[in-house]
Amino acid sequence: MLAAGAGSLAELEAAIKAFEGCPLRVTATNTVFADGNPNGAVMVIGEAPGSEEDRQGLPFVGPAGQLLDRMLAAIGLSRAEDAYITNILPWRPPGNRTPNPGEIAMCLPFMERHIALVQPKLIVLAGGTAAKALLGTAQGIMRLRGQWREVSVPGRPAPIPAMPVFHPAFLLRQPAHKRAAWKDLLAVRKRLADMR
Ligand code: URA
Repeated sequence: MLAAGAGSLAELEAAIKAFEGCPLRVTATNTVFADGNPNGAVMVIGEAPGSEEDRQGLPFVGPAGQLLDRMLAAIGLSRAEDAYITNILPWRPPGNRTPNPGEIAMCLPFMERHIALVQPKLIVLAGGTAAKALLGTAQGIMRLRGQWREVSVPGRPAPIPAMPVFHPAFLLRQPAHKRAAWKDLLAVRKRLADMR
């Protein structure tokens, strides 16, 4: 298996770039692997690159990414030092449509290997697509958000605490939900503080 064979992040990125099984790769401009500090305590996992991410080849650099940076900053975390940011899918779906289950399943082994290599202290699942894919549930983000879960991946002995939160793109469209997102971020801050 391509993903399981990757012994480092550089090898994993190369394996994803060489993977020809996912048709989204053909319509995307760039493969968007990750950004931030792989040694940071928190791994943030979103859905898929949008147009700006596809253009720059980096995750969460458009408007939703700017809000994500502000959300992290609100609990004292920065992309440069504390957070490592990636997406369930490394390629932009055309027109920003929601990724379909086949695309997600195809890319999941890469995601799991990514988590096993980074070994974050905790994971923030941004939005329903990431939460459902990594928690293996059909429940929506409205139900999942705000409750600690665990993500288990092959090659990583202990499960990793994971907090599902509203996706920043959703919060841009529905700012009334920011209050709940703030509560969830505070739970992340507390859990991190308890780990130190
Ligand atoms: N939305 C995501 O889920 N990921 C990005 O990188 C940008 C927007």
